[in-house]
Amino acid sequence: MTNIAVFASGTGSNFDALAEAIDRNEVDAEISLLVSDKPSSKVVDKAKERGIEVLSFHPGDFNGKAGYEQVILGACQEHNIEWIVLAGYMRLVGTTLLTPFEGRIINIHPSLLPAFPGKNAVGQALEAGVKVTGVTVHLVDEGMDTGPIIDQQAIRIEEEDTEEDVQQRIQQVEHVLYPEVVGRLVKGEATKHDKAGITERF
Ligand code: GAR
Repeated sequence: MTNIAVFASGTGSNFDALAEAIDRNEVDAEISLLVSDKPSSKVVDKAKERGIEVLSFHPGDFNGKAGYEQVILGACQEHNIEWIVLAGYMRLVGTTLLTPFEGRIINIHPSLLPAFPGKNAVGQALEAGVKVTGVTVHLVDEGMDTGPIIDQQAIRIEEEDTEEDVQQRIQQVEHVLYPEVVGRLVKGEATKHDKAGITERF
């Protein structure tokens, strides 16, 4: 059984999707730790309801990123975490975590990266007038949504779509794609594409 940590700060719909896929034995892993930089977020309550250990904190209480990431690292080591799964954790990960977890941190982003990185990816896509957007799962590096891509799925944007419509369809895709990718990762069956276009299994 692989121990994973989910980092999240939002409503936790991706956390739910992953936890439910684990309950159905579709993913051979356990969410052993939930890390959140928003102690009042819904995902924190959801994790507590499931009896999952929660580490939540206010970043402002620490002396910079290295300060709180050192605490996170300690908790990850204590729980023998093998993979860190970002699901709506809206902060850049620093070297304190990236170095010991190199190639072991993934993120889900609501666009077809490298298009529309950062915040409000759905709004950015609508603003740009694209007809296709989607979801990307990628390895995390020091950049903003820049790491090697593991998987992507596209959705169409229709003429009459509101931002909410697109957001909803994006999340439907995320809730299937993310558990699938985590399932492959823990079995050692995922592949990544680097910037030179080389596909590698890891
Ligand atoms: C997800 O849609 C995820 O793609 C996005 O935050 C949402 C969290 O929703 N992440 C980013 O935008 C990262 N740049 P959830 O709390 O319902 O899982």
